[in-house]
Amino acid sequence: MNRKDFIKQSSLVGLSALILPNSVFSGTLFKKEVHIGLIGVGLRGQSHLDTLLRRSDVRVVAMADPNDRMVEMALDLFDKHQKPKPKVYQDGEEDYQNLLAQKDIDAVIIATPWEWHHRQATQAMRAGKITGLEVCGAMNLEECWDYVKVYQETKVPIFMMENVCYRRDIMAVMHMVRKGKFGQLVHGEGGYQHDLRPVLFNDGEHPYGHGVKFGKEAFSEAQWRTLHHIKRNGELYPTHGLGPVATMMNVNRGNRILYLTSMSNRPVGLRDYLDKTATSTPPQVRFKQGDYVQTMLKCENGETILLTLNTTLQRPYNLGFKLHGTDGIWQEFGSGGFAQGHLYFEREMEYSDQWENAEEYLSKYDHPYWKKEEQKATGAGHGGMDYFLLNDFVECIKTNTEFPFDVYDLATWYAVTPLSEQSLKMGSAPQEMPDFTNGKYKERKPVFGFENYSM
Ligand SMILES: NC(=O)c1ccc[n+]([C@@H]2O[C@H](COP(=O)([O-])OP(=O)(O)OC[C@H]3O[C@@H](n4cnc5c(N)ncnc54)[C@H](O)[C@@H]3O)[C@@H](O)[C@H]2O)c1
Repeated sequence: MNRKDFIKQSSLVGLSALILPNSVFSGTLFKKEVHIGLIGVGLRGQSHLDTLLRRSDVRVVAMADPNDRMVEMALDLFDKHQKPKPKVYQDGEEDYQNLLAQKDIDAVIIATPWEWHHRQATQAMRAGKITGLEVCGAMNLEECWDYVKVYQETKVPIFMMENVCYRRDIMAVMHMVRKGKFGQLVHGEGGYQHDLRPVLFNDGEHPYGHGVKFGKEAFSEAQWRTLHHIKRNGELYPTHGLGPVATMMNVNRGNRILYLTSMSNRPVGLRDYLDKTATSTPPQVRFKQGDYVQTMLKCENGETILLTLNTTLQRPYNLGFKLHGTDGIWQEFGSGGFAQGHLYFEREMEYSDQWENAEEYLSKYDHPYWKKEEQKATGAGHGGMDYFLLNDFVECIKTNTEFPFDVYDLATWYAVTPLSEQSLKMGSAPQEMPDFTNGKYKERKPVFGFENYSM
C-alpha cells in the first residue's frame, strides 16, 4: 500500500500539532504551498535554496544570516530563479528570532554552525515552526534529551535532514534489504571519509586548497568547524554513515543501539597540512581531533555497526559503506555510483567466491522513488539526493505525514557524538545509548525505503 493510500481528513488549524504518525499515513493534500524560512544561508543553506526555488509548491519567504556575503550570494539565487525576494534578517546572530516570530512561515530549515543547532531548533519548535535540521552531532547528551522533550511538549515535528539516506545506491541497497536479499543483517559500516583540509582552511580568497586561515577571518566552515578540531576529539559527524545503516537495521523501530565505544589515533593531518601549505609562518595551533575516529555500536538485535570519521588526511572521497547479512554482502567503493561497489550473494553466484560489480544488482533494484522522480532530481545537490531529502520535507508537510527520520532518530544519531567523546576520554570505555523513545521503539514500525516508499 502506498504511503498516500491512507486518507485522513484534517483541518487547517494547528498544522504542526496535527502531523500524523506515519503508521496512519495521510494522503489528503493539506496545504498547497509551503512557506519556508531559512536560518543560515551559507553554502549548505544556498544549496537548499537553489533546490527549493525550483519548486512551484514552495515559497521561501524569509532568511536569517548575519553574514552579508552569504546573504548576497543567497539573494542572487532569487534573481536566478526569478522568484520574489524574501524578508531578510541579518542584524546579528540573534536576528533569527525575529524570523521565528514571522507569522506566515510554516517551516524552517536550519543550516548553521553546529553550536547553534540545539538552540535554534528548539526555539523554532517552540515557535510552532516545523523544523528541518541539518546534520552534525550534539554538543552534549542533554541537548538530545531536550529535542525529545520539546517535541513531546509542542508536538511540532522536526526532520533530521540526513541526505545520504536518499543516495541512489543506498536506496537501492535499502530496497534489497526490505526485500530480504541480505537475509538477517549482521554488521554494517559507514562513515564520513572526506578530505576537508581545504574546507577547514578556506580563506575565501586563495584558490580552494591553498588558504590557511580559520576562525572569524576565514570563509564558510573554516570560520567555525576548524575550532571543533582544536577543542574536541570524537565522532563529530556521525549521521552520514549511521543514518543509512541505522535505517536498514530498523534502529528506533523494533531495534535500538545499546552502547558504543570509540578509538582515535593521534592528530597529525591538519598540523602537517598547515606546515606544508602556509607560504609564511603557519598559524600556531594544536589540534585534538584524531585523524581517524572509529566507533563501534552494538544493537539490541545483535548487529554491530562501525563508523569511521576521517576528514583530515589526503584522500579521495568515500563513505566506506558495508552491509553484511546471512545471505549477502555489499561493499561500497568510490563516491556512490552504482558501478563502484561490489556485492556477493553466494547462492545466486553459485558459490563462486568472487565479488561481482554492484552495477547490475543496484540497477535492477533501483528504488521506485528514484525512478519516478529522477528527472526532477537532475541538477540538485550531491548527485540528486538533496532533491529527495527536500521533497520529503515539503511533501510530508503538505500531506500532514510524519517525517521518515524524526526526533527520536535525531536524538539517537546526534547522541553518538558526545558519547564517543566521553568514550575517548575514558580510554575507549563503552557508553550506554539512552532509549530516547522510552520503550516505544518496540512498537514503532519502519517506514523508509520499502518498495512503495514515495512521497
Ligand atoms: N548534508 C550535507 O551534505 C551537508 C553539507 C554541508 C554542510 N552541511 C551541514 O550544514 C550546516 C551548515 O554548514 P555550511 O557548510 O553551510 O556552513 P557555512 O559556514 O557555509 O554556513 C553557515 C551559515 O550560518 C550562518 N550563521 C552563523 N550563526 C548564525 C545565526 N546565529 N543565525 C543565522 N545564521 C547563522 C553563517 O553566517 C553562515 O552563513 C552544518 O550543520 C553542516 O554540517 C551538511
